[in-house]
Amino acid sequence: MTSLLKYSASYFRTTMELGVLDFTLTFLALRPPGPRQVPILGNILQIPVDSAWKVYQGWGRQFGSDIVYLSGLGMNIIVLNSLEATSELFDKRSQIYNDRPHSILLHDLVGFDWTMLFTHYGQRFKDMRKALQQEFNSGRVMNYQDSQIDAVHELLQELLCQPKRFNKAFRGMASKIVMKSAYGIDIQSENDEYVRIAEKGLEILTTSVGQGIPLIDILPILRHLPAWFPGMGTKRQAREWRQCADLMRSMPFDNVKARIASGETLQCAASSLLENSKGTDYEEDVIRSALGSMYAGAADTVTYMLSWFVLAMVLYPQVQQKAQREIDEIIGRGRLPIFADRQRLPYINAIYNECLRWHPVIELSFPHRLMEDDVYKGYFLPQGSLVFGNAHAILHDEDVYPNPKQFMPERFLRVDGSWNPDARDPSVAFGFGRRICPGRFIARETLWIAIASILSSFTISAARDENGKELIPDEAHLPGGIVSPAPFKCNIKPRSTDHEALILATQRKE
Ligand code: HEM
Repeated sequence: MTSLLKYSASYFRTTMELGVLDFTLTFLALRPPGPRQVPILGNILQIPVDSAWKVYQGWGRQFGSDIVYLSGLGMNIIVLNSLEATSELFDKRSQIYNDRPHSILLHDLVGFDWTMLFTHYGQRFKDMRKALQQEFNSGRVMNYQDSQIDAVHELLQELLCQPKRFNKAFRGMASKIVMKSAYGIDIQSENDEYVRIAEKGLEILTTSVGQGIPLIDILPILRHLPAWFPGMGTKRQAREWRQCADLMRSMPFDNVKARIASGETLQCAASSLLENSKGTDYEEDVIRSALGSMYAGAADTVTYMLSWFVLAMVLYPQVQQKAQREIDEIIGRGRLPIFADRQRLPYINAIYNECLRWHPVIELSFPHRLMEDDVYKGYFLPQGSLVFGNAHAILHDEDVYPNPKQFMPERFLRVDGSWNPDARDPSVAFGFGRRICPGRFIARETLWIAIASILSSFTISAARDENGKELIPDEAHLPGGIVSPAPFKCNIKPRSTDHEALILATQRKE
C-alpha cells in the first residue's frame, strides 16, 4: 500500500513537471531494459557482487541498450554503459544526478556523513568541492611537485631494498604525498600516528561499503532494534568505529592549527585555505572535512593503479623495453626523470593513459542518486534511483578502443609515435559529472612521475619457479569497490649498477 501511494505521488509530480507527452510515458512507466524480475524481491538477488561492471556491460549488450535497470524492495538501480549516456545525464543534467544515496550505516551510525564521498548534493558539498578545486586544480598542483619527487625517490629506495613489498611501498608514497600536500606533515615511518589513524578510518570505510549494500540499509526498520539484539553486530561495531572516523579528519587538521598558532609558516592546502577564509566555524568544518576526505580518496586508488601498472609490465615486456628506449634517448642514463620531461615522453604518457583505461581501479562508479524523476531516451527514471557510470564498459568499448583487453599504449599515439590528440581520453576513470574525482590532477602528477621513475630505474619481470620457468600471473582481481589485482609475484631489479647508484644518490642528498 505504501509503495502504491509513493508511486502515485511520484507519478503525479512527474506528470505535472514533464508535460503531456511524458504523462503517457510515465503512465506506461516504460523503464529501461534489465533482467527479468521475480515477484516481491524483483531483481534483488540478481544484483551482481563480483565483477559487477562486466555483468552490467553484458546485460547492456544482451538488451541492446546503453542503459540497464534493476529494481526490488523499493530500490532502483540504473547503470549507464556509454559515454553518450553519462555525458547526457551526469554532465548535462548535473543538477539532479549528483547526489549520493543516504546510508543509515555510514551516515547515521558510523558518522561518515562528513566525508565528501558521502556528502549529499547541496551548498556544503559545493563549498567542499570549491576548497579542493582551489588547492588541487591543474595549475595549483605544480606547487606540490617537489614533495612528489621526494616521495617518489623514497619509493625507488624502498623498491631497491624490498622489491617484493612493492604494494606497501606504493601505499607509503601515496600517504606521504597526501599528508604533505594537505597538512604539511612529513611522514617518517609506516608507524606514523597520522597514517595509522587514516588507515584505520579507511579500513572502516572499505569494510562497511565493501560487502555490498548493508542489511540495515535494505531493511531500515532494523535500526530501531537495540545494539544488543542478536544480529545487530553492525550497530555495536558502528559505535566503536565512530570515534575513529572522526579522528581521521580532526587529528591532522588540529595539528596544522596548533602549528599555525605557534607561528610556524606552512606550505600546504590547509594553511592556504585557512588563511583565505573568514574563520567561521562553518568554513573551518568545510576545510577540515574536504581535506579529511583526501586520504581515503588517494591511498587505495593510487596503490592499486600502480600495482596494475607493475602487472602490465610483467605481462607486456615489449612495452617496458620501448618505454626504456624512449627514456634513454630523451633523458639519458645519468639522471632520474623530472616533470619538465613530460612533453618529450609521449610513450610514457601513453602508458599512463593506458593504465587508466586497461583496469580503471573504480570500474563501476560510486552510486549517484537521482534527485527528481526524469526521462531519458523515452525511459522513465524514478527519483531516488542509484545511478552508476560503468567506466569499464566505456573504456572497453571496442569501437573506440579496438582489442580492449590488450595493454596497448600505442592506441594513444600516431603511427610516427607522436601524441594523438584525437584518441579518446580515458578520464572517465576519474568518475562523472560534479562528482568527478577532485584529486585527479594530483593523482595524474603522482602516477606519471612514479611510472616514469620506476621505468627509468628498474626492470620488472615475471618471477621464476625453482626450475627457472617463468611464472606468468593472470589478470585476476580482488573483490571490492576499488579494484586491486590479486597478489602476484614478480622481480623488480635495478637496470644496471649505474641506475642503482642514481637511486642511492637521492638517499645521500637528504
Ligand atoms: C588513481 C587515482 C585515482 C582514481 C582513479 C580516482 C577515481 C575516483 C572516482 C572514480 C571517484 C568517484 C567519482 C564518481 O562518483 O563519479 C573519485 C572520488 C573521489 N576522489 Fe578520487 N581517484 C584517484 C585519486 C584520488 C586522490 C589522489 C584524491 C585526493 C587527493 C582523491 C580524492 C577523491 C575524493 C575526495 C572523492 C569523492 C568525490 C565526491 O564524492 O564528490 N582521489 N575518485
